[in-house]
Amino acid sequence: MCGIVGTIGEKALRTYLIEGLRSLEYRGYDSAGTSFLSNGEVTTYRLPGRVSDLDQLVPTSIEANAGIGHTRWATHGEPNFSNAHPHQSNKGWFTLVHNGVINNFRFLKRKLEQKGMTFASDTDTEVIVNLMEFHYLQGLTPLRAIKKTIEKLEGSYALAILFKEEPNRIYFAKLHSPLVIGKGEKTHYLASDYLPMLAYAQTFYIVTDYQYGYIEAQHIIVKHLDKNEEIPIRFHTTDLTIEDIGLNGYPHYMLKEIEEAPEVIQRLSYNYFDGNQFLFDDVLLEKIHQADQLIFLACGTSYHAALVGRRYFEEIGKTCRVYVASEFAYYPEVKGQKPLFIVISQSGETADLIRCVQLIKQRGNALLTITNTKGSSLDRASDFSLLLYAGMEIAVASTKAYIAQVGLLAILRAALIHNNDVMTDLVGVIQAMKSVIDSRQDIETMAQAIMHAPSAFFLGRGLDYDVALEASLKLKEITYIHSEALPGGELKHGPIALIAKNVPVIAFISDPITAAAIRSNLEEVRARGANIFTISNLALAKDEDNFITPNVKVYLSPLVKVIVAQYLSYYAALHLQRDIDKPRNLAKSVTVE
Ligand code: F6R
Repeated sequence: MCGIVGTIGEKALRTYLIEGLRSLEYRGYDSAGTSFLSNGEVTTYRLPGRVSDLDQLVPTSIEANAGIGHTRWATHGEPNFSNAHPHQSNKGWFTLVHNGVINNFRFLKRKLEQKGMTFASDTDTEVIVNLMEFHYLQGLTPLRAIKKTIEKLEGSYALAILFKEEPNRIYFAKLHSPLVIGKGEKTHYLASDYLPMLAYAQTFYIVTDYQYGYIEAQHIIVKHLDKNEEIPIRFHTTDLTIEDIGLNGYPHYMLKEIEEAPEVIQRLSYNYFDGNQFLFDDVLLEKIHQADQLIFLACGTSYHAALVGRRYFEEIGKTCRVYVASEFAYYPEVKGQKPLFIVISQSGETADLIRCVQLIKQRGNALLTITNTKGSSLDRASDFSLLLYAGMEIAVASTKAYIAQVGLLAILRAALIHNNDVMTDLVGVIQAMKSVIDSRQDIETMAQAIMHAPSAFFLGRGLDYDVALEASLKLKEITYIHSEALPGGELKHGPIALIAKNVPVIAFISDPITAAAIRSNLEEVRARGANIFTISNLALAKDEDNFITPNVKVYLSPLVKVIVAQYLSYYAALHLQRDIDKPRNLAKSVTVE
């Protein structure tokens, strides 16, 4: 949530800041702003709205030594002019952008107010910038004032900071919110992730928690809050390329990412199987075998993938639990002596999960993280890490990451029981996915039939219920249609009261064990006038089904059915003219609790 950028000594400063913010907009898009520092003068442009609005506001002729920028997802205070970043201290010494949340900001604000400082916004960020100025005016150097300030902050922050009298330097600090430094030919860059820097920097450094320092065109200083000496840093390269993050002719990232599903499975296959054997660390496999309990923690779409994973591991005899991370964080319940925590996250930066990981560490339990982002906070915090290799996911609604998560869990399960058949089964999945992609027009027709309904219901049993949950989340997220997912059998225990004439009920039917039962649930709602849509597979198809997927092994059916669900939401949102890649109120990478 929130994206920050900064650079120093870059000729194309304005372009870097504006285009960088555009590429970070998936992290938040309710306000945007930039500050430029030149000859002791800071000029700030900010507004509620999109980066495209900011682009109109910032003069194309602007030149400066250093600049910082921000795209916001509001946490403290509504999206308006005064809450937009950058924020400046009372006397203008410091100007900064912030991604994160300061939990003790009210306490700090009161103290600063008592000292006579004033505040123009509702943000927690303004407290940080004024606290820096307060310490600076006590006689500290800017770097020491920054250090003293961040020592007092509780919560999370990635900061890029301008100090009025140092036009050749940008300070930074980081705790629990991501921050990457890029090294260009004659300059350095700061950003919340690699994307803004791909066209500029050749190598990168991921700033870790409690680090702070500054960049200059030719120098970089990194320190740790608890140590005096400078930290020697090693830059690395990234596999990401500009092509990876382009739309490549697609109208929306979501559509592009849905249609990358076959590639995602292919990439997983060669990263975790060499043609003869699985490529997992033996120590990890042994750890899973030894664990008396597997505890899955995740949020949103990743949680839905974890639900499928639980079924995989229970089926091979493991005791499993699955928790929504934000619940587990406050009500941790761990039974058993040797639990293994499995944390699943596309971004690897989700605050609810980071909180859980702190608990897991305190307990001294083993942690496996499954993320799509190498070097992310969760990836780094783990004892064992598995990457999803799904490629950058940019649309706010997660699609291909779910595919990778379920695919990886299926391969991991197979590795535990030494069953190579999964690789052939996944080849079948890839073919089935391609066939669904080829028939997407039929799903578009279905979407047009449901898109004007105020509310929709998704039904399934077993794995189809897990898919129904994800289908329902996707629909509400990007179309704003209210929807619910229910296990087919639960309808008659209450929710059927909501079924009236023309209410859409969409059912997934993939499992011969429950096909008849779910069809009879559909008869119950048909009798009450519901508008029924069925998504079955060839083996279980009936003439009246609306969409029939090719057969795949039942345990892998979520990988195919979910694509139908993703298209359904996509096309409904498209015809409703929603902002598909940036749905209202949402942001990718939820770095606040
Ligand atoms: C839904 C969606 C969210 C994320 C959730 C967890 O489309 O994107 O529900 O799945 O915020 O995010 P990660 O997986 O990054 O931890």
